[in-house]
Amino acid sequence: MNEKGTLYLPPPGSTVAGEVDALFYFIFYASLVLFVLVMMTTAYFIFKYRRRGKRELTSGIAHNTKLEIVWTIIPVILVFIVFVWGFKTYLKMNVIPKDALEIKATAQKWFWTFDYPNGANNINNLVVPVGQPVKLLLSSQDVIHSFFVPNFRVKMDVLPNRYTLTWFEAIETGEYDIFCAEYCGKGHSEMLGKVIVMTEVDYNAWLEKSAIDIPEGMSLEDAGANLYTSKACITCHSVDGRPGVAPSFKGRFGTLQGMADGSTITIDENYLRESILNPQAKVAEGFQPVMPTYQNVLKDRQIDALMAYIKSLQD
Ligand code: CUA
Repeated sequence: MNEKGTLYLPPPGSTVAGEVDALFYFIFYASLVLFVLVMMTTAYFIFKYRRRGKRELTSGIAHNTKLEIVWTIIPVILVFIVFVWGFKTYLKMNVIPKDALEIKATAQKWFWTFDYPNGANNINNLVVPVGQPVKLLLSSQDVIHSFFVPNFRVKMDVLPNRYTLTWFEAIETGEYDIFCAEYCGKGHSEMLGKVIVMTEVDYNAWLEKSAIDIPEGMSLEDAGANLYTSKACITCHSVDGRPGVAPSFKGRFGTLQGMADGSTITIDENYLRESILNPQAKVAEGFQPVMPTYQNVLKDRQIDALMAYIKSLQD
């Protein structure tokens, strides 16, 4: 990063960030100067025009045209500068360049899925090339979320049943935090992601590799272990028996499981598959029905891989 962050703002990482910051500091310092001036004048007048004797009356001045023109014109000029400047930056932030690379971003409780034109998808990590405009087509599977990358000065609400759009162009390679900026339930504060900005060459290599479901020569079990982390199963399901928001994966396959509705089932392949694609169909006793669906996120081969991994976690 060539520029450091300040007390007020993190380091700028996108093409619009500098403009947003410049306007912010103009408003900030203009307010500061005016505040000090007004306060000093007030203090001076309080002292100068203090009541000196018991019978002293306030002067009878009711009007001063020159003064009133001055205190109207100066604020109007300031407001006009802020408006024109702000509107230009607003347009730049909202008009998406035609050559932008389009990525579909889907929010759900409590993670992000990023889909690429070549069929690759990635959970929580938005990988993009440096120096190229990136257009995000945002939508939510459940409640309202908000896509926020402080370094890029980009924030956009993510809604169910409709699309929102935003864009950015990263100016340097590196990793930048993604936060959810709309309270969306229990896991809101853990709905974290990263924008990973790569060089064009690295990005293309990553994209090609990511479009492949399971790398050649890798066992299903190992691929499942990778997916367990990369698809965020790890957020709720432990693999060491430790209970969390959801049942641990350790030593579960083939065992009997009590359900929230009072029935009992055996944890087998079909139960796992159903739980991944339609998690609310059968909820384990003692747990909340909070798992998101992985329909359209995981392909069949990937579900097979996860299942192989879960099966391998026996005592
Ligand atoms: Cu998603 Cu807050």
